[in-house]
Amino acid sequence: MEKETMNIQWYPGHMTKTRRMMEENLKLVDAVCEVLDARIPISSRNPDIDAICGNKPRMVILNRIDMADPAALRQWTQYFESKGLAVLQTDCKSRRGINGFVPAVRRLLAEKIRRYEEKGQSGRPLKLMIVGIPNVGKSTFINQIAGRKGAKAENRPGVTRGKQWVTVNPQLLLLDTPGILWPRFDDPETGMRLAYTGAVKDDILDVLTLSCHLMELLTLRYPEAIRARYQIEIPEEIDGYALLQAAGRRRGFLVSGGEIDDERMARVLLEEYRSCKLGKFTLEMPDMLEEAE
Ligand code: G4P
Repeated sequence: MEKETMNIQWYPGHMTKTRRMMEENLKLVDAVCEVLDARIPISSRNPDIDAICGNKPRMVILNRIDMADPAALRQWTQYFESKGLAVLQTDCKSRRGINGFVPAVRRLLAEKIRRYEEKGQSGRPLKLMIVGIPNVGKSTFINQIAGRKGAKAENRPGVTRGKQWVTVNPQLLLLDTPGILWPRFDDPETGMRLAYTGAVKDDILDVLTLSCHLMELLTLRYPEAIRARYQIEIPEEIDGYALLQAAGRRRGFLVSGGEIDDERMARVLLEEYRSCKLGKFTLEMPDMLEEAE
């Protein structure tokens, strides 16, 4: 079956409706947990999340740590913590990090818990909502946390349902549907990074163009891994297409007449990146964010 990817059209009307729903839901919860793809913590983030959440206590869930660079993960954790956000690292496939959620929520909401205790309401449940862009792992996360199987959020903006709560334990409830947010649109790099990781379909660009950009980015960040995997020299001046051709030549991907089958190599690079055959790579670092600010 074809993998479900981000195919939402985020028209301004959808965004307004989603934002309104988010604002309504925010009134019902004590904190917001924002799921990000640890490989692309900038591109997988909703650009308006700070404005939408206001002063609500917040946790960032760095998900897919099974695919991300551990050193980069440490830097991102420090970065978000320095911005006053709680951070949890998870791999929702293997459940790594999942058991840290409840203690992390209690730390985040320690003040609220203390106030409840003072009022003689100890044990009053804390309420949270999970938000994030499509395909980032929200439903899998909720299912893992709540120990339930198979419920998949509708990847459509503005779909309303009666409010229901999932009980994690008697002191912790999650809004049963995640808040689906839009990614950044104004930046083509964001679209490409979402495509490299498989969050959006490849057809935002042709595979060759996408793969040339990915080759450049990977070679800049992880030159040794590219050199070792494809047995190619990395010149000082990095040209994604030339590197892709060199890799294709090495693999013996030729078409009649001896030309390199660059389309085939382009697909191979994307597939090898997505399946972590090249290594566990993180494509964005906090300094990239600060440069843009
Ligand atoms: P969403 O609700 O935010 O739209 O995302 P969803 O939970 O549906 O997850 C999207 C895909 O990401 C799913 O894969 C899911 O299994 C996978 N995923 C979620 N968290 C992790 C993680 O920590 N690590 C890895 N490697 N994958 C993760 P799928 O191919 O659509 O489904 P499935 O066949 O894996 O179930």
